[in-house]
Parts: sequence; structure tokens; C-alpha cells
Amino acid sequence: MAPSQSTRLLSTIALSALLASPALAHTWLEEMQVIGPNGTYIGDLGYSRGYMARTDPGFNGYSTKWQLPSPDTDIGRIRINESMFACHPAQRTANYTEEYPQLNVAPGSYVAMKYLENGHVTQPWIPAGKPDQSGTVWVFGTYDPSPDEKLTDVLAWTSDRTGGKGKGWLMAAQAYDDGRCHQLNQAPISINRQISFPNRIPGQPTSQIEQWCETDLYIPDDARVGSTLTTYWVWSWDTGMRTEGAFCGKDEYYTTCSDFQVIDGGDSLSKISAMPMIHTLGQQDPQTQAVRDYKSRTALTATPTVITNQSCTYGPSDVTTSSWPASLTVMTTMPLSLPSPAAPGPMPTYQAGAPQDGGRSGGNGSQHGGNGARPGHGNAFPTSVPASSAATNSPPAPSSHAPASPTTQADIVSFVTITIYTDSKTAAQSSASSTATISAAMAVVSDGGVISEMDQKKRRRHGRDLFGQ
Ligand SMILES: *[C@@H]1O[C@H](CO)[C@@H](O)[C@H](O)[C@H]1NC(C)=O
Ligand SMILES: *[C@@H]1O[C@H](CO)[C@@H](O)[C@H](O)[C@H]1NC(C)=O
Ligand SMILES: *[C@@H]1O[C@H](CO)[C@@H](O)[C@H](O)[C@H]1NC(C)=O
Ligand SMILES: *[C@@H]1O[C@H](CO)[C@@H](O)[C@H](O)[C@H]1NC(C)=O
Ligand SMILES: *[C@@H]1O[C@H](CO)[C@@H](O)[C@H](O)[C@H]1NC(C)=O
Repeated sequence: MAPSQSTRLLSTIALSALLASPALAHTWLEEMQVIGPNGTYIGDLGYSRGYMARTDPGFNGYSTKWQLPSPDTDIGRIRINESMFACHPAQRTANYTEEYPQLNVAPGSYVAMKYLENGHVTQPWIPAGKPDQSGTVWVFGTYDPSPDEKLTDVLAWTSDRTGGKGKGWLMAAQAYDDGRCHQLNQAPISINRQISFPNRIPGQPTSQIEQWCETDLYIPDDARVGSTLTTYWVWSWDTGMRTEGAFCGKDEYYTTCSDFQVIDGGDSLSKISAMPMIHTLGQQDPQTQAVRDYKSRTALTATPTVITNQSCTYGPSDVTTSSWPASLTVMTTMPLSLPSPAAPGPMPTYQAGAPQDGGRSGGNGSQHGGNGARPGHGNAFPTSVPASSAATNSPPAPSSHAPASPTTQADIVSFVTITIYTDSKTAAQSSASSTATISAAMAVVSDGGVISEMDQKKRRRHGRDLFGQ
């Protein structure tokens, strides 16, 4: 019997992994703020409809999450359909409180719509089959919102305002990964960005705070002053076809619905700048600067493709990665080159509403953000962690701080040990049954071998080179 066909122990992996709790492994907009002429956030914060902060009494994983198809009520559906509401039940009307008000915007201004990446950016290989750049965010706008708005109707709106009977229009299409954001975890992408884009509490030079992501929305020059502009933020994080365990692929949309008051911003947005930043969150991102390329963000998929047909002709035999189990042997030979984690520092304290400069060292508009450190698309993987800190504008890396990862968000951190026994012959014949094993392996091995397999796989699936070569 050839060795490759024998049943063998592929690997035993005992490695601490930081995994967000499932309840938090989703995304919605946390807050929004206007970006001033020099790229700093200005004015007060604004919120979505029906917003609840993670620290609010009564908050749970369903308070603000709106996922379609719903894993709870659309059992078995892999595609959205015409019945599905665009907005969370608490967000179907302009449901606002004094605590979490609407954002004031001005024609011709940019808005940073901020969210937590929850590992979708820093551990993009979890789970398998997810899109490059962690998927696409589209933002749609309308002056004529309806409480019954359906997602498929909204997705039909176009940037030239003709689609979907012109009821609204497509305002932005951007990668979910803004090139800067990172949860604090031990994955190389995170460690790299903790060094390249340290997010520090003012006056606490050793603090490390999760860096939130943003969508950078342009408010058109012809936006109607005095009106309410309703926006639907729609993130598509679909699973591609021919993925193990999801042969037909699977839609996975998340939305957040918000209203903006369109006002006259004054010269250089002076009226917005003058609004004090008082509606901060208890766990507020100290960042003060938008990503460097906030005016030129792009997406791999500029317009959504809506498929409502549930039918699918793919099966296990169509999965293009049936060689996976064999390739997993790579894991056994890859050194685990992660820096050994330093003892976590003291929990940073942070006062909501405190003056914020994000720890930036002065500057005349020079920003740490944007494309600088984006480690390539296709979930490409830094080969060696601190050395590949790619940002040309990186500040000197405070190596003693970087790997320390004080967890300030309400993430639940688990330490897992996974042992994988795989019969490569059986697994090759039944990819479906090995899916869970493969995903689990990917979840804990944040190292070169598996990731490059992932990239090979994506390269095949998308039929193009993801490394920009
Ligand atoms: C408004 O939002 C709150 C959450 O902040 C939610 O509990 C409530 O049900 C919403 N009300 C309506 C009418 O949607
Ligand atoms: C959409 O799917 C749901 C089940 O999740 C079903 O109840 C509804 O009838 C479907 N709508 C259409 C238009 O097919
Ligand atoms: C749905 O997809 C199946 C398989 O691809 C196809 O045969 C069928 O005609 C489609 N149905 C509709 C209504 O488009
Ligand atoms: C402003 O930025 C430019 C280019 O980034 C730099 O050369 C210059 O030294 C900066 N000036 C100040 C005062 O920081
Ligand atoms: C950028 O603009 C803001 C608001 O107008 C101002 O407070 C800040 O000092 C400016 N920053 C720089 C570096 O010019």
C-alpha cells in the first residue's frame, strides 16, 4: 500500500488560538462619523436605526445582527429571495434614541461607517470558500425608504439611479477589508497590522486597541439639504461554489439600516466640525484618522449579482480541492513561526469622550492607513510576521508591545487543542465528510502551509492570480 493511501495521523496541533465567540462572529455598523477635509474624523458620532451598544443592558447577538438568509428562520436556504427584508426588525423605521442619534452629513462630504472585523479580516481562511478582501460592502441610498424594503429590491438599485425603478441608488462598493483594521489576535495579519497601524489610547503609549474597519461613503454633491437620506449598508460574504461542505455555495448577507440628516456643512465642513463629539461609546475606537485611501476605495465586485434560484447541480465530485487531505500533511512540516506571545499587558482603560489623537505622532495629514500594509488579496499570508510588516509608512515597531494582545472588546477567548486523524483515501472520496476537519485545522493553524493551499484553491476557483503577479 502506498504511503499516501495509508491511514495515518496527519498532525497533532496544539496551539493556542484566539477565537471570537460565535455570537460576535458577525458584523453590523457600530457608529458613523464624517471625515473632514484633511482625513480626520470630525463632529459628533451618529448611529444606525435601533442601535444597541455591546455594553447596553439587554444586548445580545441578535440585537443588531441581520443576516440573510437567516440561519434561524431560512433553514436550508442557500440563496436570498424576494421575501427577505432589507433591515433588521428594529431598523425598519427611523427608530432613534437620544443616546444614539442620527448622523449629520453634508453634500460632498465623506462618512466613515465603522464596524468590527471579528476575525473576518485577520483570519480570512475561516471558514473555507470566503471571498477575497473579506467580501464586498455596498451602500444604497434613498429618500423614499419603506418599512417593507426587500433586500432583492435594494440590490437592484444602480449607481446611475435607473435600476429598481429609481427608488434609490448604489452609493458605494468597497472591500470589507479596509487594509488597516484588525482584531487583536495572534494571526499574522493581525500581528502585522498591530505593528503597522497601532491603535493606541491617547496618553497610553503601550496600549493596543482593536482597530475598527470602515466603509467610506461619499455623500453626493446634489444631496438634498434639509432631507433625511436613508442608507442600507449591505455586506456580502458569500461562500463560493465548489467549497467543501457547500458545493453550491451560499449567500451570506449582513445589513445595517441608518438615516442621515443632510445639512449645510458650512465652509470646509466647519458646521460639522463644530459639533462636539459627545455621543461616544463606552468601548470607543481611539482612531482619529480615516484610512489613507478613503476617497478611492474599491471592490472586486462593483455591482451585486443576485441569484435567487436555490437549484444547484454541484455535488461532492465537483469540489476542486479533493486533494486537500493529502496537502494537509504540509502542516506537519511547517514550523509554527508565530512569535511567542508576551504576557498580556494591563487592560487599558479608556474614558468615553476623552480627547483622542489615536497616538498619532503629529502630522500634516500624513496618515497610517489605506493600502499601505494590505497584504495582498486572496487572503494572502505574510510569510514571516514582523519582518513582512509591509507598510512603507510604518512607525518603528515597538517589538516588545506588538505581540501582546490585551483584549478590550467583549470577545471570548478560547484555547483549543485539535488533533486531526484523517484517512486520506477515504477523505479524498468523500470530501463532505472531511469538511469539518479541514475547517477546524484551518482555524488553528495560522501558518504558511495551509494558507498557501487556501490561496491555491482560491486561485483555481477565481481563475486569476491573487498575488498581483
Ligand atoms: C427600536 O430599537 C430598539 C433597540 O434599540 C428595539 O428594542 C425596539 O424594538 C425598536 N423599536 C421598533 C419599533 O423597531
Ligand atoms: C423565501 O424563503 C422563505 C423561507 O426561508 C419562504 O418562506 C418564502 O416563501 C420564500 N419566498 C419566495 C418569494 O420564494
Ligand atoms: C434554476 O436552476 C436550475 C439549475 O441550474 C435550472 O435548471 C432551472 O431552470 C432554474 N430555474 C429558474 C426558475 O431559473
Ligand atoms: C508634511 O508631510 C510631508 C510629506 O509627507 C513631509 O515631507 C513633511 O515633513 C511634513 N511636514 C510636517 C510639518 O510634518
Ligand atoms: C484636521 O482637521 C481637524 C478638524 O478640522 C483639525 O482639528 C486637525 O487639527 C487637523 N489636523 C491636521 C493634522 O491638520
